[in-house]
Amino acid sequence: MSENKKYYITTPIYYPSGKWHVGTCYTTIVCDALARFKRMQGYDVFYLTGTDEHGKKIQTKAKEKGCTEQQFVDELVGDLKTLWQRLDISYDKFIRTTDDYHCETVQKIFERLYKQGDIYKSQYEGWYCVPCESFWTKTQLVDGKCPDCGRDVELTQEESYFFRLSKYTDRIKKLFEDNPEFLQPQSRVNEMYNNFLKDGLQDLAVSRTTFDWGIKVPFDPKHVVYVWIDALTNYITALGYGQQDDTLFRRYWPADVHMMGKEIIRFHSIIWPALLMALDLPLPKKVYGHGWLLMGNEKISKSRGNIVDPFILSDRYGVDALRYYLLREIPFGSDGLFNNELFIKRINADLCNVYGNLVSRTLSMIASYNDGVIPTPADYTDLDREVIAQAEGLLAAISEDVDALNVPVALERIFGLASRLNKYIDETTPWVLAKSEEGKGRLNTVLYVLAQGLRFVSVALLPYLTIAPVKALDAFGIGAAERTFDSLVWDRAIDGIKTSKIDHLFPRYDLTKEVAAMEDIAEAEAKKADKAKAQSADNKPADKPAEQPKNAHEGVVTVSEIGIEQFAEISLKVARVVACEKVPKSNKLLQFTLDVGGETRTVLSGIAKWYAPEDLIGKNVVIVANLKPAKLAGIMSQGMILAAEDAEGNLSVITTERPVSAGATVR
Ligand code: ME8
Ligand code: MG
Repeated sequence: MSENKKYYITTPIYYPSGKWHVGTCYTTIVCDALARFKRMQGYDVFYLTGTDEHGKKIQTKAKEKGCTEQQFVDELVGDLKTLWQRLDISYDKFIRTTDDYHCETVQKIFERLYKQGDIYKSQYEGWYCVPCESFWTKTQLVDGKCPDCGRDVELTQEESYFFRLSKYTDRIKKLFEDNPEFLQPQSRVNEMYNNFLKDGLQDLAVSRTTFDWGIKVPFDPKHVVYVWIDALTNYITALGYGQQDDTLFRRYWPADVHMMGKEIIRFHSIIWPALLMALDLPLPKKVYGHGWLLMGNEKISKSRGNIVDPFILSDRYGVDALRYYLLREIPFGSDGLFNNELFIKRINADLCNVYGNLVSRTLSMIASYNDGVIPTPADYTDLDREVIAQAEGLLAAISEDVDALNVPVALERIFGLASRLNKYIDETTPWVLAKSEEGKGRLNTVLYVLAQGLRFVSVALLPYLTIAPVKALDAFGIGAAERTFDSLVWDRAIDGIKTSKIDHLFPRYDLTKEVAAMEDIAEAEAKKADKAKAQSADNKPADKPAEQPKNAHEGVVTVSEIGIEQFAEISLKVARVVACEKVPKSNKLLQFTLDVGGETRTVLSGIAKWYAPEDLIGKNVVIVANLKPAKLAGIMSQGMILAAEDAEGNLSVITTERPVSAGATVR
């Protein structure tokens, strides 16, 4: 392997904060395909992934669960490693930020930056978003909320160490200007420039005193190193930077690609290069911010109805199906959808009908017409030459796609060749050729073109699918030497090889039935999760009688805590009261006609004791918009109006304090 052909690719390090879902797999599977592709191209690849295990959120969750932070992360990291094994992720190293060598090096880095004046101590006041673990200045907030996730932020003041990010503004600007390839896709550059760089960078708080699950600042141990320096540095500590043996670091740094979701490109394209500049180290060659896997309009976190558990998906449909879906369905760099129906459609349309079918048809024709031996071709016709040219052009074309990090297009091209071969069968009708002695020569050529074409397709698929193409190549009797990219030349003869039978590579699903089955599975999973949650809530006080829930005062109804995900399942909306009338024969109920942003709804509310129908007309109320419709006094109510009631029986409907449009989201 030549010295300069190295390829260092990284995923972000994952937060072990809850159950792993199919969105979790996206970055990792994409990087795995790229790593495998580059290895097949002859690069010396180093593929890094790992986990980001410190911070307030993890500390809080561990407390909730009644275990130590280390126990909490160990369990989830164990699950993640099992998942990566299941999905055939070929990483070269898995780093944990709780690993000793990482902690040591982070302390060294922090101390060095402090000594050289890049880090200084000061007071920090800012708005903190707990779920995102991000601090924001007032001007960065959007409508007073976290600009990343839109949730509430809390005002925090504390002593903190600061990194002089401001000092690097010009150099970072220049980095963007001189290297249009550095941050991709291009649209992300404008976003970074307009939102952060244009007005100059601000110094960054890089330590915390409000929690202690983290790496201690060596010269001031009441501070822990905050996420920036702890997490981002994993890309170099994993290679042994700052340690006695830094061979890997010298071999692989700088990274060729840092791959990640678009929500963390600010960290990677601004803060990370500035830290590297301060450390006098070369910068990564590329930072790529891919899109999100969406269901509806939300980034996947949890859902009912769709199976989003990657263990279930890969068990039931195979690793290839899951990998293929994620790599093929999401336009690279943009958001894409994940749902049961699209998933099954992809398996049926591409994996089963195009590839699986081609493999079975070709093998069974070779079995019936030539005793299972790949025949020797006679002369090629123009039609053959057209197909051969497409096969021979495949690798160069997909190499370009992959260099542009455009994985879905590469897959489209490979399946394009498979579709072409299927069509070739229909054009050449081997079953007709087989009927006559004169057809024999032509038949041999056709079967050879198919077998050889399938070798190209299957070898090209190896970086993406880890099972089916291997099975297919095995069945065709193709040896290791003919499974390399270098071997993808048509003249590499494969005639005379004995093929063997194989089961269908992919089943064909009845779409409606399978989607219904998936919904049942998802439902059962959701129930199981709810039950487990309820059980753990029940168990907590019993296990630890001393630790009562915060709100368990005498005489006060206690409400169990819920996670932000559970809260996010409740859709609250502003609605304008268009009309309101008393419900006949009921002295409690009012019937409201509401405008919920262009949609009109009927909602009943038991507030007739406090409000006359005309009191609320034209006013804004807040409704639970995704409440299951229910019949009250014979009328279907589509939602619930929120009202507050105190102990004295005073009641007030919740309204909005400033003008906002009907349909606005409440959170
Ligand atoms: O961000 N669709 O970790 P993380 C696509 N610890 N990608 C998704 C996704 C979805 N629905 N959900 C998650 C962190 N991801 C930090 C990184 S790096 C120095 C610190 C992707 O566990 C996400 O975009 O929240 C990111 O690339 C990866 O999963 C890890 O996210
Ligand atoms: Mg995240």
